[in-house]
Amino acid sequence: METKPYNYDIVKFFTVMACIYLVIGTGVGVWIASELAWPVLNFDNPYLSFGRLRPVHTNTVIFAFAGSTLMATAYYVVQRTCSVALWSNKLAWFTFWGWNVVIIGMFITLPLGYTQSKEYAEMEWPLDVLITVVWLAFTFNFIMTIAIRRISHIYVANWFYLAMMIAIIYLHVVNSLSIPVELWKSYSIFAGVQDAMIQWWWGHNAVGFFLTAGFLAIMYYFVPKQANRPIYSYRLSVIHFWALVFGYVWLGAHHLQYTALPDWTGSLGAAISLAMIIPSWGGAINGMFTLSGAWDKLRTDYILRFLIVSLAFYAMSTFEGPVMSSKTVNALSHYTDWTIGHVHAGALGWVAMVSIGAIYHMVEKLWRVPLYSTKLVNTHFWMATIGTVIYITAMWVSGIMQGLMWRAYDDYGNLAYTFVESVAQMHPYYAMRAVGGLVFFLGAVVMLFNVTVTIRQAVRQNKPVIQSATS
Ligand code: HEM
Ligand code: HEM
Repeated sequence: METKPYNYDIVKFFTVMACIYLVIGTGVGVWIASELAWPVLNFDNPYLSFGRLRPVHTNTVIFAFAGSTLMATAYYVVQRTCSVALWSNKLAWFTFWGWNVVIIGMFITLPLGYTQSKEYAEMEWPLDVLITVVWLAFTFNFIMTIAIRRISHIYVANWFYLAMMIAIIYLHVVNSLSIPVELWKSYSIFAGVQDAMIQWWWGHNAVGFFLTAGFLAIMYYFVPKQANRPIYSYRLSVIHFWALVFGYVWLGAHHLQYTALPDWTGSLGAAISLAMIIPSWGGAINGMFTLSGAWDKLRTDYILRFLIVSLAFYAMSTFEGPVMSSKTVNALSHYTDWTIGHVHAGALGWVAMVSIGAIYHMVEKLWRVPLYSTKLVNTHFWMATIGTVIYITAMWVSGIMQGLMWRAYDDYGNLAYTFVESVAQMHPYYAMRAVGGLVFFLGAVVMLFNVTVTIRQAVRQNKPVIQSATS
C-alpha cells in the first residue's frame, strides 16, 4: 500500500518563522524596556510610544513566536506519534498563511492605534475572526490526523495539544465577542465587572493553555526524545494532564483581588491556585526525572540543557504564581514589577527555553544534518539563562521596592513617598532589565544565525528531506 509522506515542509516553515519572530519579539521587548529606563527613546513619536509598542511585543511573543512554535511542534509530534501523515496538507498550509496574515495585520494595526484594549486580545475584530478560522482549521486537521492514526494509543503530548486547542477556541471566541461599528473599530459586548471577569478568564487561560499546556506537550515529546529515554512516569503524566485541565479554568479571578468582583471569586481563585502547585510540580519532576541515571548527558548535550533548565523555571514560576495569588502577597505584588518578573520567569525561562530546545532538536531532524555549531548552542544557552536571571532579579527587587514604597506611611498617616519618587527609584532596575533583555535577545540572534547556516548547508548538500510515513 502506498503511504502518503509526512508533511515536514509545513513544520520547517513554522520552525523558521518561530526563530524570526523570537528575534523580533524580544527585540521589541528590549526596545520598550529601554523606553522605560530612558523615556527619550520615545522620540515624541506616537508610533514608537510605549503604549503602542507594548502590545506589539506581547502579541509578537505570544501569537507569532509561541504560536508558530506550537504549530510547528504539533504538526511534527502528531505525525510521528500517530505514524501517519497529516490528514490535510491544504488545511495545514492554510493555517501557515492565515496565521502569518494575522501577525502582519497585528504589526500594522497595533502601532497605528487600532486596538480593543483588552490584554492579549488587542487585535480588532477582522483579525479576531481570522484567528478563529485559522485555529479551527488547525484543530480540525489535528483531530482528523489522530482519527486516522496507525497506532492505537494516543501519546500524552497529543492530549495536551488537544486541550490547548479546544480551550483557546472557546476562550478566544467568548472574550472577543464585540459589536463592530467600523472596519477597524468594535465595542466589546461585556462591560464593567463582567468585562473584567471575562477578560481575566481569557487572560489567565491564555497563560494556562496557550503558554503552558501546549508547552507541556512539547516537554512530553522532546525531553524523552532528546534524552533518548522513556518519560519517567507515564501514569504521572496522565494525572498531570487531568489535574491541570480541571484546575486552570478556575483561576482567572486571582488577577482581580481587591476589585469590584465578589470577594469569594478571588478567594476561590487563590485556593485553586495553591492546589495547582501539585500538578505543576508533578509535571516538572516527571520531565526532570526522565534524566535519572543519565544526568551526565547535560555535560555534553546543550539542547538537553535548554529543555531541563526550562523545567526548573517552570517549577519556579508555578511556585511563585500561587504565592502571588494569596490575598496577602497580592496586596503587595499587584500593579508592581513583581508581576512582570513572574511573567518573564515563565515566558523567558519556561516558554522560550523549552521552545528553543525543541527548535534545535527539530532542525537537526528535519534537515537531517547536525547543527552548524554546537558551541554556538552552548553560547546561546548561557546568554538565555544569564539574560533571564538578570531580567527577573531586577524585577523582583524593583517590584518589592515599589510595593513597599506605595504602602509606607509617615507618623501623621500621610503617604511617605510620592509616586514619582518610586518611579525615580526604579531607574537602575529598569536599566538592568534592559541589559538582561539585550543579552537574551542577542542569544536569539545567535540561534537564528546558527539555524540559517545549518539549513543552507543542508540545502547545499541536497539532503533528502521527505520521510515516508512508514520510515
Ligand atoms: C500554578 C501556576 C501559576 C499561578 C497560580 C499563577 C498566578 C499568577 C498571579 C497571582 C498573577 C498576578 C496577578 C495580578 O496580581 O495581577 C500572575 C500573573 C501572570 N502570570 Fe502567572 N501563575 C502561574 C504560572 C504562570 C506561568 C507558567 C506563566 C508563563 C508562562 C505565567 C504568566 C503570567 C502572566 C503573563 C501574568 C500577567 C498577567 C497580566 O497582568 O497581564 N504564570 N500569575
Ligand atoms: C528580551 C526579552 C524580553 C524583554 C526585554 C521583554 C520586556 C518586556 C517589557 C518591558 C514589558 C512591559 C512591562 C511593563 O508593562 O511594565 C513586557 C511585558 C510582557 N512580556 Fe516581555 N520581554 C521579553 C521577552 C518576552 C517573551 C519571550 C515573552 C513570552 C513568551 C514575553 C511576554 C510578555 C508578557 C506576557 C508581558 C505582559 C506582562 C503583564 O502584562 O503583566 N516577553 N516585556
